[in-house]
Amino acid sequence: MADATIEDYYVEDRTFAPSPDFAAAALASNRSLYDEAEADYEAFWARQARELLSWDRDFHSVLEWDLPFARWFIGGALNVSYNCLDRHVEAGQGNKIAFHWEGEPGDTLTITYADLLTEVSKFANVLKGLGLGAGDRVAIYMPMIPELPVAMLACTRIGVAHSVIFGGFSPDAIVDRCEDAEARLIITADAGYRRGAPSMLKPNVDTALSQGAASVEHVVVVNRCDTDVDMAEGRDLWWHDLMADASADCPPEPMDSEALLYLLYTSGTTAKPKGIMHTTGGYLTQVAFTHKYVFDLKPDTDVYWCAADIGWVTGHSYIVYGPLANGATSVIYEGTPDTPGRDRLWDIVERYGVTQLYTAPTAIRTFMKWGAQEPAKHDLSSLRVLGTVGEPINPEAWMWYHTNIGGEGCPIVDTWWQTETGSHMISPLPGVTTTKPGSATHPIPGVFAELVDDDGRPVERGGGYLTITRPWPSMLRGIWGDPERYRETYWSRFEGRYFAGDGAKVDDDGYLWLLGRVDDVMNISGHRISTTEVESALVDHAAVAEAAVVGAADDTTGQAIIGYVILRGSHDATDELGEEVRQHVATKLGPIARPKTVVLVPDLPKTRSGKIMRRLLRDVAEGRSLGDTTTLADQSVVDEIRTRAAESPQED
Ligand code: WTA
Repeated sequence: MADATIEDYYVEDRTFAPSPDFAAAALASNRSLYDEAEADYEAFWARQARELLSWDRDFHSVLEWDLPFARWFIGGALNVSYNCLDRHVEAGQGNKIAFHWEGEPGDTLTITYADLLTEVSKFANVLKGLGLGAGDRVAIYMPMIPELPVAMLACTRIGVAHSVIFGGFSPDAIVDRCEDAEARLIITADAGYRRGAPSMLKPNVDTALSQGAASVEHVVVVNRCDTDVDMAEGRDLWWHDLMADASADCPPEPMDSEALLYLLYTSGTTAKPKGIMHTTGGYLTQVAFTHKYVFDLKPDTDVYWCAADIGWVTGHSYIVYGPLANGATSVIYEGTPDTPGRDRLWDIVERYGVTQLYTAPTAIRTFMKWGAQEPAKHDLSSLRVLGTVGEPINPEAWMWYHTNIGGEGCPIVDTWWQTETGSHMISPLPGVTTTKPGSATHPIPGVFAELVDDDGRPVERGGGYLTITRPWPSMLRGIWGDPERYRETYWSRFEGRYFAGDGAKVDDDGYLWLLGRVDDVMNISGHRISTTEVESALVDHAAVAEAAVVGAADDTTGQAIIGYVILRGSHDATDELGEEVRQHVATKLGPIARPKTVVLVPDLPKTRSGKIMRRLLRDVAEGRSLGDTTTLADQSVVDEIRTRAAESPQED
């Protein structure tokens, strides 16, 4: 995979070292964590596990590795909710704020660690009252309201594994996931607020249960929006009724290190979603470690905000488990960033004095499209670390984030990881690493990554497949109910290595540049070109707000590059401008990377979590009928794109 060199594509050559002030105050400002982990990574993780967490019973061995099956901290026992709540309260932190919760309509709730412990204990007793206990699975389908982390933590208190289903998913997705996990209970709400109105949830659960998911015995419903919902007699129960009588006395149950903590389903290249399994001790160790060091968390003074949805792994690890394990004060926001205005996020940052902000490149590019005047309305000087996750960040978006949100003074941590990895794997440490815009830099201490070529040979410089060479504490323990698929999906492509599905490059300084999923890397006349790099070049044009690129089958060149481009507000979608944008890529990256077609579109097809659905764009480009579009946020977008694509000029 070593055709393109970094010099061909590199569009921003400034580097950013931590400022002396930042480094002087940072939790990590030198290489000692890296050196320690390098010398003995098992001992390193054992130290983190013992220092960051409280154990009911210490572990007797650190790691048992029977490739591809890992067990970490063997013999140890601990409770996740105890680690997230009780121990902070016992240490006199009961009045400390765990969450500043903000509803979309503007209602707010300040939740202390003591409040959260009470609510979690009560709901754990509710779960027990419904006959649930260790070994059971519970599905959670909720908006971003305080009851969501309460429900998750209550499960962990009594050894029930949760399976959170993102609130944007359809009834079909609920059926599939509940059936696969044999969930006995669904916890939901009538609705949650999105763009100024209730977005219904409970009716989707009703539809799902009329279609299948026979294992589900009860549905617990939070009344968030006071909408009219049907309550099935005997099956459906109101959260507030159950909580009214619940006792707040529920001792946390010590769980084995390897007890199942949760399932989280990922969809993607294959039809059937995979239930990714995470367990207790290793997961909590690595999320706590990374949350602390990657965000340089100072729990006494920081107000941390991960603006993701808890329905995704980012929210599990970096809204719920990492921050609470570390005793942090965090913000949770229910709604969309454009309600009531496009400055909603910046208003929240200002009002709560947010110190760390963690969001996705796609969000940053949307903010770019809305314009720098929105953040400029607010005082963002409380911010000191900025994070990104979810996709490669193009250097332009990185620089915009750096300049307009970070006021040129905040380190940016570009964190690469996956649902499967459970927590950060590749990321700068903000007081240590000199960053390059667009590079996730290096593996964190205790994680070992290597690029390999098609034959599995290590690649020292240039492009390759990203693999992880040693087990890590928060790694997935398998795919629920399908150990063979686990081995096949992640461990069979390159022997002895976890293959992440991503391509990457190492530059001459040893920095890692994530190039996106391997199926997003195009092959044009035998040259490998990353969709990300072409996208980066497209958005580098002054008229372009956002771009998505796919490789479409082409008789002559193998694949051809098709670019879909959203223009900034003031520009008209003319053929001339499309041609200019196309040429701009040639100027930036070289003629080989010039798209065959640039289609100027009003919007891009995105999942409800904001990921661009390139598969659909590829289907459009290749004139195929569309596959599954159920995860699309807005179904009408694709029709419009199809029309525009048919009208766009093509290079011969
Ligand atoms: C991509 C999200 C580049 C990658 C936590 C990975 C990234 C997939 C980055 C996992 C990043 C995530 N730079 N690509 N910083 N972070 N990805 O499971 O392709 O929703 O394989 O987990 O997102 O997505 P998932």
